[in-house]
Amino acid sequence: MDDLKPIVLVGPAGVGKTTVGKKLASTLGLQFLDTDSLFVKDHGAIADFFSAHGEAAFRKLEEDYLAYAIKNPAVIATGGGAVLSESNRKVLRQATVVYLSTDGTHMQKRISQGNRPLIKNGIADWRRIYEQRKHLYEAVANITIDCSGHPIKQTIAEIRAELEKHV
Ligand code: S3P
Repeated sequence: MDDLKPIVLVGPAGVGKTTVGKKLASTLGLQFLDTDSLFVKDHGAIADFFSAHGEAAFRKLEEDYLAYAIKNPAVIATGGGAVLSESNRKVLRQATVVYLSTDGTHMQKRISQGNRPLIKNGIADWRRIYEQRKHLYEAVANITIDCSGHPIKQTIAEIRAELEKHV
């Protein structure tokens, strides 16, 4: 495995990028970074920031956090909208990008947890946004892992097997 490149997880909100990322990082003995958490540490809750400053201001800062995080040989979880930025998509070329895809199994329950400013109308919003972004996830991905309702152990094992092929 090329352990010099960071491993970046992309995919729709609620698919498990943070949970999988933490576990993957500890399995591989790498640092874990989460661009949303870095943002929250500096700016507070994302939903509050969206209300006060708007999505564009969030996206701009999201670019800075990704640019910072990707300099580390770490496992990095991104927000579901990180791929919207052309600059982010270019930056992602420096990494091994793992796209966590899903057919939506268990997503209704998952997105009811947390406060996501773009998902105010539940699963219908989630599906619409995912459809809009799918091609972007596909475009940046080096590895795609179907997570549809799968246990985390299986997802981690599949990612590790794919990473081994990316020597
Ligand atoms: C967003 C997803 C969120 C967070 C922000 C915007 C999006 O991250 O970055 O609320 O545009 O889909 P998660 O994918 O971790 O929920």
